[in-house]
Amino acid sequence: MIIRSAIFIKSSTKIQDCPVADRAEYAFTGRSNVGKSSLINMLAGRKKLAKISSTPGKTQTINHFVINESWYLTDLPGYGYAKASKSSRKHWEGFTGEYITKRENLISLFVLIDARHEPHKSDYEFMNFLGLHGIPFVRIFTKVDKQDSNRLTKIMAVHDNLMLETWESLPPTFISSAITGKGREEILKYIEETIIFFEKQP
Ligand code: GTP
Ligand code: MG
Repeated sequence: MIIRSAIFIKSSTKIQDCPVADRAEYAFTGRSNVGKSSLINMLAGRKKLAKISSTPGKTQTINHFVINESWYLTDLPGYGYAKASKSSRKHWEGFTGEYITKRENLISLFVLIDARHEPHKSDYEFMNFLGLHGIPFVRIFTKVDKQDSNRLTKIMAVHDNLMLETWESLPPTFISSAITGKGREEILKYIEETIIFFEKQP
């Protein structure tokens, strides 16, 4: 897929404020600081589309972008640790969960996992939550530029084995680097192949 245009639409803190669900949507989520905003910029080919920060918890609103004037790309607040205050964090964790389960045009969710780390409980709790609600998702192991390939293979095997303890099969899985652009083609190809499942409401 060639990205011809990428436009920021709005940031929302309430579901009622989100743009109308009239086109296919792919949303990005994962633990704070995993590289969601960076990956969005890398995919869109725009350096400053989504705001990046070294302070975890930067994205605390649901941010909608429209790509090629045809589909939504959505930056969701991260879960897990965050330097946000406990009460505001609780708010957006609940808000994100509600959004994911109610947004009817969501084709698939991208769950980002930092490729440098062993499995983290919150990722598995989150993926189990998605499974429970029948929400399709894919995994993306991020920041692979910081990892040599042997170690990456090992870490991914640990994640796969843990997942297969409770899941029958593994979801589609990609690796990415916002620095080198690795994974861009594959992820955009996945979007191109699945976007056809979106049916416009009459
Ligand atoms: P929150 O919105 O706070 O939840 O974070 P986020 O998941 O959107 O992460 P963000 O894209 O803001 O990136 C967090 C930090 O990781 C920044 O310092 C980025 O520069 C860095 N980073 C993100 N992706 C990559 C990557 O692929 N490789 C490397 N080396 N660093 C990355
Ligand atoms: Mg972010």
